[in-house]
Parts: sequence; structure tokens; C-alpha cells
Amino acid sequence: MKLAVINGSPRGEKSNSKKIGAWITSQQGLHNDLTVDTYYLFKINRQDAYIEDLSGTYILLFIFPLYVDSMPGIVKLFFEKLEQKKQAFGGRPVYFVIHSGFPELIHSRSLERYLKYYATKIMDMNHLGTIIWAGSEPLQMAPDNFFRKKIILFEGQLATILTKKRLPEDISEQLGGKEHISKFQSIIYPITPFKDFYWNSQLKKNKAKKLLKNQPYA
Ligand SMILES: Cc1cc2nc3c(=O)[nH]c(=O)nc-3n(C[C@H](O)[C@H](O)[C@H](O)COP(=O)(O)O)c2cc1C
Repeated sequence: MKLAVINGSPRGEKSNSKKIGAWITSQQGLHNDLTVDTYYLFKINRQDAYIEDLSGTYILLFIFPLYVDSMPGIVKLFFEKLEQKKQAFGGRPVYFVIHSGFPELIHSRSLERYLKYYATKIMDMNHLGTIIWAGSEPLQMAPDNFFRKKIILFEGQLATILTKKRLPEDISEQLGGKEHISKFQSIIYPITPFKDFYWNSQLKKNKAKKLLKNQPYA
């Protein structure tokens, strides 16, 4: 049996998507006949070769972050390329994991609907579920122990995927996801000290202030 983990993060090998993929496949040693191959969509020049490869018997597992309430452009590009070869993918089992910076499921719901539409109506694939993890950015800072319960849940999905069963309908809620944050959280959040610490450190690291007036497209 072959499982393809298709990483759709522009961060590639340093991504949260990679960590989530590693969690889901961490028990692969328990399955004798299993081969797991990982494909990084940020390697745009290799996308065509990936599609050739994937036309085999792989179960497909896409993992990518929510970008501007949708998918990263490299994922959309891959979907469009895949569509050109759709005859090789009819009936293929496919799973998706979307994860987002915002801690609310609502942000990913329209993309979840699109993925189901893309897989079933456009690609004629066998769509067996989408997991949404809302609030994945702390993965960059916090140790894995912090996510112990979530890791166990992710690990538990491998058996479902390998038997080509449907993921539990409430898997995103089981991961702790709520459609909206509570009224109380929405009051507390803006006044939480250090809430911007990570984002500010990212801006500093990437010299955002210095580059603010750049006009790359002018
Ligand atoms: C360009 C960009 C756009 C993003 N857009 C959203 C968004 O619309 N909603 C959201 O909740 N998170 C958004 N995020 C946050 C990412 O989904 C989040 O940081 C994720 O954990 C990144 O995962 P990765 O390391 O696998 O790329 C965005 C991040 C970037 C860099």
C-alpha cells in the first residue's frame, strides 16, 4: 500500500504542515506493506513529475495551511495541473488537512466545501474527509508535548486512511476546534499581553519595517 503525503506549504520542510504529516504517519512502522512518500508542492518545477508519480496507486493526503481564507497558490497550481490528468485519478481515495493561524473553524469552512467539490465533482475522486485544525501557528514556538492530545488524535487517523474509510464527521471539533471564539475570549484576546510577540518577532526577522516602502511592482 502506498500513501502520498502532499505538503502544500510554501515553508516546505520547515512548515507546520510537515509536522502534522509526521504525526499522522508516525505509526507507519506498524503497517508492514506500507510505503509513505512525501511531496513538497513548493518545488514548483517538480509538480509535473509528481503528477506522473502519483498516477500510480497512492492514497492521497494533502496537508496545507489556510492562506487568505483559501489555499496557497502552489496548491491551486497543483490542482489545476492535476485536473489536466484527471482520468488517472478517478475513484482515488483522497484526504485533506487544512490548518490555520486563526483559532476558529469558520475561516476554513468555505475552503472545506471547495475541496469536497474539487475532489468529487471536478476530479471524480473518492473524497473521504477533511480535517481542520484551527490555530496551528504556535507549532513554530511550542514543544510537541504541548500538543500531546492532538498528536494522539492525528496518529489515530492513519488506520482510517489506510483502510480507506471516512474520517469522523466531527474530527475538527475533536481537535478542539470551535466555529467561533467565545464572547469572553473576544474581549480578553485584544488585551492579552505578548499576543503579538511572535508576529512582531517575525516582522523584525524579515526586516518588514525597512522594506515597508518598497514598490516591487512599480
Ligand atoms: C501569506 C499568509 C496568509 C495567511 N492567511 C491566513 C488566513 O487567511 N487565515 C488564517 O487563519 N491563517 C492564515 N495564515 C496563517 C497560516 O495558516 C498559519 O501560520 C499556518 O500554521 C502556517 O502553516 P505552514 O507552516 O504549514 O505553512 C496565513 C499565513 C501567511 C504566511
